[in-house]
Amino acid sequence: MSKESNVLVTGAAGQLGRLVIDALLQTVPAERVHALVRNAKAAQGLASLGVKAHIGDYDAPRTLDAAFGGIDRVLLISSNDLGGRVAQHGNVIDAAKRAGVGLLAYTSLLHADTSTLGLAREHVQTENLLRESGVPFVVLRNGWYTENYAATIPASIEHGVMLGSAGSGRISAAARADYAAAAAVVLSNADVKPGRIYELAGDQAFTLAQFAAEVARQAKKAVEYRNLPEAEFKAALVQAGLPDPVAVLLSDSDRGASEGGLFDERGELKKLIGRPTRPFAETIASAIEATIAGAGR
Ligand SMILES: NC(=O)c1ccc[n+]([C@@H]2O[C@H](COP(=O)([O-])OP(=O)(O)OC[C@H]3O[C@@H](n4cnc5c(N)ncnc54)[C@H](OP(=O)(O)O)[C@@H]3O)[C@@H](O)[C@H]2O)c1
Repeated sequence: MSKESNVLVTGAAGQLGRLVIDALLQTVPAERVHALVRNAKAAQGLASLGVKAHIGDYDAPRTLDAAFGGIDRVLLISSNDLGGRVAQHGNVIDAAKRAGVGLLAYTSLLHADTSTLGLAREHVQTENLLRESGVPFVVLRNGWYTENYAATIPASIEHGVMLGSAGSGRISAAARADYAAAAAVVLSNADVKPGRIYELAGDQAFTLAQFAAEVARQAKKAVEYRNLPEAEFKAALVQAGLPDPVAVLLSDSDRGASEGGLFDERGELKKLIGRPTRPFAETIASAIEATIAGAGR
């Protein structure tokens, strides 16, 4: 890792990827920052920041080879194609190997190796592919995004109730920007050596009842948390219009959270980024502001 090193972020037009690019641009010259995106519009947006954008797809290995030439460190942002991800991630790892990249960082799931969340399966399989590949790697086992719950705030305020299945499970969520900052450190800091597995989680754990109470306090509206059995929560999500596989994923993840699967207090995220993680009350405040701004349009 020298001043001339090139770094590449996949999924760079996604919500996490875009934040990683922003974080990288604070310390790495734009011409050394490369981005893999799937379409020309996203490529144009990133190119306007001075970033080198490459159009590619996890399903198309040749496009990955074209992007990875001369790259020293790669961040593989896990795909959102549930069920098809392991083969896609395998393609990226193979391309990184062919290109001889010095380090590949992969966004996995908190405590993936012991987690009871169904989501962990594909992450563990990807971690195994990484180990078998011989590519020098770092695993970023990301906890839950606080934004996952913040997205439910408008509906919670409207109905006066936040539904879930996480019981009294404590959730050490952090803001996407916190995980993005960690990924940027791993890509740009020569002190980060291959072989590390980081368990990344927010400083401040909350239950969903505490989250709902904070929403109520800030919105000055009654919002209570109602805990449902997993199957009932899944049915409520389907009724609200979510596709069945997404409802299964969310209700299963809440069940996992009720068993402590999204709790962690070792503070590795704070240490890696050199600052506290964003308090969940701040993420709630931003979501409420955005809701009010949206309603005023
Ligand atoms: N920790 C959590 O709470 C949590 C929550 C949700 C998801 N996740 C995981 O973390 C990842 C990043 O989160 P996010 O919020 O940034 O998700 P996101 O906004 O959905 O971004 C996913 C990115 O993956 C890219 N992608 C998907 N399939 C691809 C393919 N075949 N080839 C190349 N790129 C592909 C997408 O490209 P396009 O921009 O072209 O669509 C997008 O940029 C997710 O994909 C998921 O695996 C974590």
